[in-house]
Formats: sequence, C-alpha cells, structure tokens
Amino acid sequence: MCLLSIHYCVLTLQRNRIASGSLRDIDHKLQGSPGDSVLHLISILICITLQIIGHLRPQFPNTMATPVFCGIDFGTSNSSLAIANQDDVFLIPVENDHKTIPSAMFFARKDNEAFFGRAAMERFLNRNPGRLMRSLKRVLGTPAMRQGTMVNGELMKFDQIVAAFLDQMKQKAEADCGTELKHVVMGRPVHFVDNDPAADQRAEDELKAIAKSLGFGHVGFQFEPIAAAFAHEARVTGEKLAMVVDLGGGTSDFTVIRLSKDNALKHDRTSDILANTGVRLGGNDFDKDLSLARMMPELGFRTTYGTKNLEVPSYHYFDLSEWSKVNFLYTNRTIFQAKQLLRETHSPEKYGRLINVLEQESGHAVLAETENIKIGLTNSDAYVASLPFIDKDLQINVEREVFNAAISTKTQRIIEAAKQCLESAGIAADAIGLVIMTGGSTEIPLIQESFRALFPAAEWSEENKLSSVGLGLAYDARSRFS
Ligand SMILES: Nc1ncnc2c1ncn2[C@@H]1O[C@H](COP(=O)(O)OP(=O)(O)OP(=O)(O)O)[C@@H](O)[C@H]1O
Ligand SMILES: [Mg+2]
Repeated sequence: MCLLSIHYCVLTLQRNRIASGSLRDIDHKLQGSPGDSVLHLISILICITLQIIGHLRPQFPNTMATPVFCGIDFGTSNSSLAIANQDDVFLIPVENDHKTIPSAMFFARKDNEAFFGRAAMERFLNRNPGRLMRSLKRVLGTPAMRQGTMVNGELMKFDQIVAAFLDQMKQKAEADCGTELKHVVMGRPVHFVDNDPAADQRAEDELKAIAKSLGFGHVGFQFEPIAAAFAHEARVTGEKLAMVVDLGGGTSDFTVIRLSKDNALKHDRTSDILANTGVRLGGNDFDKDLSLARMMPELGFRTTYGTKNLEVPSYHYFDLSEWSKVNFLYTNRTIFQAKQLLRETHSPEKYGRLINVLEQESGHAVLAETENIKIGLTNSDAYVASLPFIDKDLQINVEREVFNAAISTKTQRIIEAAKQCLESAGIAADAIGLVIMTGGSTEIPLIQESFRALFPAAEWSEENKLSSVGLGLAYDARSRFS
C-alpha cells in the first residue's frame, strides 16, 4: 500500500506539471519523455528505501481496500466518471462538487493555460482572450482528428486536447479514491459517424489510444444506451422489456434490452440485448436548426447583395451554427471576403453584425445564447434572448412553435431511428414495458410528446439524465474486469 501511494504521488506530480503547463507539455506527455522515466526510476528508488525504513504511511488513505473499476462517459456536451468497487457504484465529483462536467476547454491566449468545464465556459463568456473548444467528441473518427487545429498560434492535435480533458477527470478521481485507476469502460455512441464503419472504428481506436496514454492498462467500450440500462436495472421490479432513449448533445441512441435484478448478475448480457440503433443527431443539431431559423437571419442570413439580387454566401452562417466549426471562421481571409461584400449588401445593418461577430470572435457566444433559448423553451412558451455583445439593443424573441418547426425534421429522423430499433428487435412498440429516457435532449417538449405518442402505455423512467451512462459504465467495468 505504501509503495503504491508514494509511486502514485510521483505520478500525480508528473501529471500536475503537465496539466498546468503549456500545450507542448501535453504533447510531451502523450508521447512520453526521458524526463518521465527518470522520475519513474526515482520514485521506485524512494519507495524501496522507504519500505526498508518502514516508517512512512500512505500519502492517500485508500478508502477502497478492494479493486476499483472506472466508467467514463465522455459526452459531446457533458462528461462524468463513476467508480465501482465490490460493494458500491458511485459518481465522482469531477468539477468541484459537481458530478458532471461540461465537455469544454478554454486555452488562455497569454500562456495557453488550459481550463476545463464550467471554469472554461466562464472564462470564455467573460470574454477573456483565448480559445474555447466544445463538442470535441464529434471530431473523433473525422479527418480533422489528424489535421489538428491552431490554438493561440500553435498547432495542436485533437488527441492531445481530448487527452488533457480526460486526464484532469482521471486525476480528480484518483485523488478521491487514493489509488491509481487502471481499468476503464468508456462509453461510445452506437455510431460515432453515420454510415461509415471504418470511420466509426477509427473513432473508437482513437479514444482507446488516448485512454491508454493516460495509464489505463485495461480499456473496454460499451454502447451508451446499454450503460444507461445497466444503471437503471437495480431499480427494476420483475423482468421488463425496456427501450432506452438516450438523446445527448451529439447523438441519439437506442437499445431494446431485457432488464431484471437477476439478469444484472450475468457476465454475458448478449442474449438480453435485442437491438441497438443510433444516429448522429442530438442537441447540437437542434441548436444549429434554431440558430439558422432565428439567429442567423439577424446577422444577414438569406439577405441579398448586388445588382443581380444574389443571396449572400451561406457558409458563414452554417459554420456559425455548429459548435465544432465556429473556430474555423476566425481567419483574416474570411473577414476580408465578408467585408468586400458589405459594400454591395442590401441589408448593411444585419450584414454588419456578421462582420462584428467574425472580428470579435463571438460566434460561440451567439451559439451559447441559442442553446439558452432552446433550454428556456423547455419550460416556457417564449424566450427573449439578449445579444448586447453584437448590438447593445439587440433582442430576439423566440416562441416554442418556431423552435418546434425548426427541429421537426430532425425529431422525425430520431423517431424513425427508434422505430428501426424496434424493428431490428422484431417487436412492436406496445411490447415495450419500460421506457428509459436519458440524456439532456429528452427534456425537449416536442421530443417528450413524440415518444409518449409512440409508447402511450409504457412505464416511464427519467432519473439521472446526465449521469446514468457514467454509472452504468462503472457497473459494466466491474462485471468485465473483476
Ligand atoms: N432542459 C433542457 N432542454 C432542452 N435541451 C437540454 C436541456 N438540458 C440539456 N439539454 C441539451 O442536452 C444536450 C446535452 O445532453 P447530454 O449531457 O446528455 O449530452 P452528452 O452525453 O454530452 O452527448 P452525447 O451522448 O451525444 O455524446 C445539450 O445539447 C443540451 O443543450
Ligand atoms: Mg450522452
């Protein structure tokens, strides 16, 4: 125990050095370094000496005498980490006392210092100079993963960025548990990328390599809706044929599964899982639809220019409506092109706002306000958004019907994916006894209505919407690795 704890301290020291350091440090860590092996050797020598002396106590009191297993839900919008030992499964607070952390990072322009989660969003929304990153999961499996992105003047690979994000969660969990975590089951959507099995596999491989680089020697994967089902299983009475509806920020995933307390004890659940389906559609896409329907027109989307009354180019508006693309717009070339058109536009006030957003790099703030409108419309019929950073008097009033109309096509596609899951399972909707609604996007009233209409008689479960996947992954890790 003593040996493990001291060795762990040295590892933590190494990591803290990296987490609070520059992007180059993070890169260095992913690749390993000669300095690390020297520290490693020193740690072993210290441990042996102290063991001989036999005077020191463990630095981290290990509250868990039994082995610990870890589940990580790296979500498009929010992430969580849960731990399982032989007796218990629980979430670890991953940002101060919070058991979920927004999957966001902010790199300060001054020194590239990295901030995570709420701290990142706060810095960004307070307009500190630097670069915000959100929806990093959407980059997995895509060509952008290899290309990387410029962060405050330095090229950074996305695997470095994702590794830094997951590492700070792992460190927090290890400090809480007093032991190094070696076994993890990571969540994955049914499809990271639609209709492209090679890209889908690449995404999983990329995430696996990142987990290994962080010191997880044993890495497994589980579909996120299956994990959510495992988390709910402890509360199921009798045997239930359940459908999990997991609608997150980036994907919508479905599972038809037989749940019961007895089934939960089985190592192999293959015979209980009847079908899985998923589409790469989620809350981010609803933000995009709402942005294009209501925000972008205020910035000149669909206005005209020149003697031929042509529509202004639309790509700025599409990129400004997508979390993973906003950053790519802030180039001198884009601003120069937009400014050239300003002379010919028929809506100079609105088009001028677009240039303002590009120059001020405030696209993320517009999108954050769009998300606020969407969430506001869950409990109210109308919402008034303020955008003083564009124009001090600019307010946009949005009614729920407008939002519903904007997302109706994608909602229909999500319902179709759920029906496809029933079809693959070979059952009718009325055979489902329990519907488990999980993921933040299941809060949307139109989504609720649509699924209630599909399963009018089923029992309904909506607990732990933002953390059930993480918990279920830890259950799964214990079942696989113990
Ligand atoms: N009250 C609400 N009304 C509408 N949408 C909401 C609400 N609360 C959260 N959301 C949306 O839910 C999404 C985040 O849900 P969640 O945390 O389950 O996603 P995730 O697990 O990070 O994503 P994924 O599983 O797709 O990788 C965001 O798009 C967010 O805007
Ligand atoms: Mg999720």
